Amino acid sequence: MLRYVRAPLRCKTRSRDALFHAPEACREVTWSSVSRAKQGHVGSAIRERQEAENGVRSTANQKIIPPRSLIFPFLIKGGKATPFIPFALAFIYCAFNGYLQARFLSKYAVYPSNWITDPRFLTGFALWIFGLLVNLHSDHILRKLRKPDETGYKIPHGGMFEYVSGANFLGEIIEWTGFAIACWSLPSAAFAVFGFFVLSARATQHHRWYLEKFEDYPKSRKALIPFVY
Ligand SMILES: NC(=O)c1ccc[n+]([C@@H]2O[C@H](COP(=O)([O-])OP(=O)(O)OC[C@H]3O[C@@H](n4cnc5c(N)ncnc54)[C@H](OP(=O)(O)O)[C@@H]3O)[C@@H](O)[C@H]2O)c1
Repeated sequence: MLRYVRAPLRCKTRSRDALFHAPEACREVTWSSVSRAKQGHVGSAIRERQEAENGVRSTANQKIIPPRSLIFPFLIKGGKATPFIPFALAFIYCAFNGYLQARFLSKYAVYPSNWITDPRFLTGFALWIFGLLVNLHSDHILRKLRKPDETGYKIPHGGMFEYVSGANFLGEIIEWTGFAIACWSLPSAAFAVFGFFVLSARATQHHRWYLEKFEDYPKSRKALIPFVY
């Protein structure tokens, strides 16, 4: 995102610590609350299945810390100072959305006890895993583009980048679409729809920027949806 930024007001927090940490914090809040959901909620079903599969008993207050939110920010190369306004907006959005999803799942949502075998949950969960893998792999490719202390931009290759310019955004869209299907709720659907519009706009913007910046940019590569858009 920082390729477009000319804002004079920058906070000292670097992009790697801010923009990536805020969305991940949102996920932590959501999923840790899901893990504390009461009997009959999808969260407790997920927790019970994890315990059964792993042989590990999690306590009600145990905090789930996804490795990505802790490790990824420190792996990014050539970080720049983050403009304050996008940072603040991202933080407010993630705090609000994290609260909305967590509150709904832990307090209001009621699922049948067999929800984790329901086709909607299974389809959504599979999509979520697939999107997560695309997102992680694409992040990995972007990270490897820069040598230490480099700040410029290069053409990404490999994985879903062979098909679309916004591979990391595509992964994130698939992730939250899967989450919405698995949760089958209005808040999760609102999150997925909102995320789609934000991330598809960003993928389109990146795609146009690549085409303008690099004469040798692969012509067959689309912005967000392979072979289509
Ligand atoms: N759920 C939501 O609503 C939502 C909204 C926005 C973002 N996000 C997520 O937040 C994450 C970050 O978003 P973003 O807009 O910052 O992603 P991005 O523009 O793709 O940047 C990701 C990182 O890769 C670097 N990078 C990107 N393209 C590069 C290239 N061609 N050459 C070298 N380095 C490159 C960027 O450096 P620079 O920082 O120097 O540009 C940045 O460190 C994404 O995973 C996105 O899915 C989620």
